[in-house]
Amino acid sequence: MTEALNLRTLLRAYPSLTWRDRLHMIIRWRVCPMQKIAALVPTDGVILDLGCGHGLFAQMLARGAAARQVIGVDLDADKVALAQTLTDRLPNVQFEAGDVADLAADLPPAQAVTILDVFYLVPFAVQERLLTLCADKLASGGVLILKEMAETPRWKAFLNWLEETLAVRVLKITASSEEQVHFYFRPRAEWQKLLEQRGLTVEIVKLDAGYYHPHVVFIGRKP
Ligand SMILES: C[S@@+](CC[C@H](N)C(=O)[O-])C[C@H]1O[C@@H](n2cnc3c(N)ncnc32)[C@H](O)[C@@H]1O
Repeated sequence: MTEALNLRTLLRAYPSLTWRDRLHMIIRWRVCPMQKIAALVPTDGVILDLGCGHGLFAQMLARGAAARQVIGVDLDADKVALAQTLTDRLPNVQFEAGDVADLAADLPPAQAVTILDVFYLVPFAVQERLLTLCADKLASGGVLILKEMAETPRWKAFLNWLEETLAVRVLKITASSEEQVHFYFRPRAEWQKLLEQRGLTVEIVKLDAGYYHPHVVFIGRKP
């Protein structure tokens, strides 16, 4: 296991952490196969992590390869402020606060765009606009890595919906750009079609074995 793949090392990189943020990241690490997703990301060039949260995944990418220039964007200013405390020690990562719908157009061209469990909070029409932007930003040979929740197995999809209802609507530990929060999940076939319509060749990787979430990753490659 490399240093970048060790949760303790990743948490230690934050100069100070509340118990709440620490717990949030520990849980996130346990329930999401971040290491497997990170292994899909190119090892050099600009990597845009849209909806980066506390910057755990962005930090992992930055530590995993010094030739990556990672830029994380998130709506939640508190999470971004925490993520920014990483940048003193990690020169190849930076963070920006704001709605990805507003900021994406100004982000630089990239070798990869990663979007992990964010689009279910983004209205369908905005998702489509962002996918077009991301596909345009990708360098030739670049990849869009979209981590979503699949519609099956249905019991996992239901548990995920229940958990998100608690996190977003009740406890409000996950931010949304909407006052009246809706969820915008799509079936796998729809995601595949949207990516293909934008000129990407799509590989679908199911990553839910051993997890109670129906994790699925769409790897969209630009020819
Ligand atoms: C479930 S968390 C995932 C965080 C991170 N990608 C990860 O895998 O740990 C969803 C994140 O999306 C962010 N988010 C939601 N809507 C957003 C938007 N319109 N623009 C930017 N970030 C957004 C939330 O603030 C939250 O940090």
